[in-house]
Amino acid sequence: MARRWSNDLTWADVTPRDTYLNRRQIMAGAGAMGALSLGGAAAAQDAALEPNTLEEIRGYNNFYEFGYDKEDPARYAGEMRVDPWSVKVDGLVDRPGDYALADLLAGLETEERIYRHRCVEGWSMVIPWNGVELADLLAKVGVQPAAKFVAFETAVQPEVMPGVRAGVLEFPYVEGLRLDEATHPLTLLATGIYGEPLANQNGAPIRLVVPWKYGFKSIKSIVRISLVEEQPPATWNLTNPNEYGFYSNVNPTVDHPRWSQATERKIGGGLFASRQPTLMFNGYDEVASLYEGMDLVENF
Ligand code: MTE
Repeated sequence: MARRWSNDLTWADVTPRDTYLNRRQIMAGAGAMGALSLGGAAAAQDAALEPNTLEEIRGYNNFYEFGYDKEDPARYAGEMRVDPWSVKVDGLVDRPGDYALADLLAGLETEERIYRHRCVEGWSMVIPWNGVELADLLAKVGVQPAAKFVAFETAVQPEVMPGVRAGVLEFPYVEGLRLDEATHPLTLLATGIYGEPLANQNGAPIRLVVPWKYGFKSIKSIVRISLVEEQPPATWNLTNPNEYGFYSNVNPTVDHPRWSQATERKIGGGLFASRQPTLMFNGYDEVASLYEGMDLVENF
């Protein structure tokens, strides 16, 4: 039985597809006439919750190992070798090792979670992930009391990664979470989308999903998970610490130095879709207690 969280979207929240498509046509018509009716506003609301299509999710990506353009990952990531795959688990754990992916996941419950996905660049999607709770995996390997953070590392396969060869960022791509963030029940290690294995461009065969943080925290194609005492390095934070904080919680009141974070553009919304408001913690209010007493402007 899949566990559910208070504002985790469910299929029941989602308008039946034909109703949605009809409303979308009506809305597009209203938009074309320059008069968005009340029905149009309701349709916009529905559209904000509608999961993106697999085509959208696989066709518009950030995966800098494969290049800058949103189409580059779909174009090049197919060449990445994802089988066999092993993940090194090390640092402050009771059962460190080089785990074959199947061994790492053995005994863990796979769940479906329909999450909002908000990129720091100001676009968003809704994605039905399949995956395991990171907390379950950490319990399996045994976290030692001295551990305070979890560090993650992405595979580097320069022969098939044009972005690595071009040096667009420093690779391997690395990320990190505080241990209480990592063990929050919303935090997933995803292995699939819509019940299908992850496409390489989405971070096959295993990637992080932290739905209340900007997308760049959700590191793809993970080959190493380390339990550490000190705050680990994170690629975008290292690249430009004034623009990308370690926490990077979605926060509509803290603008990026070069653009507003108050609204977002949902991918697949169509020509007349208006930007939708961005929600604090991307709508996942249950994580607020993790940051009690912290200044979220300073700790952006
Ligand atoms: N992980 C790696 N290794 N390399 C990347 O460039 N991009 C991040 C994140 N994880 C990135 C990464 C960014 S900026 C976003 S928004 C999401 O992946 C995009 O995930 P998606 O392409 O599956 O939507």
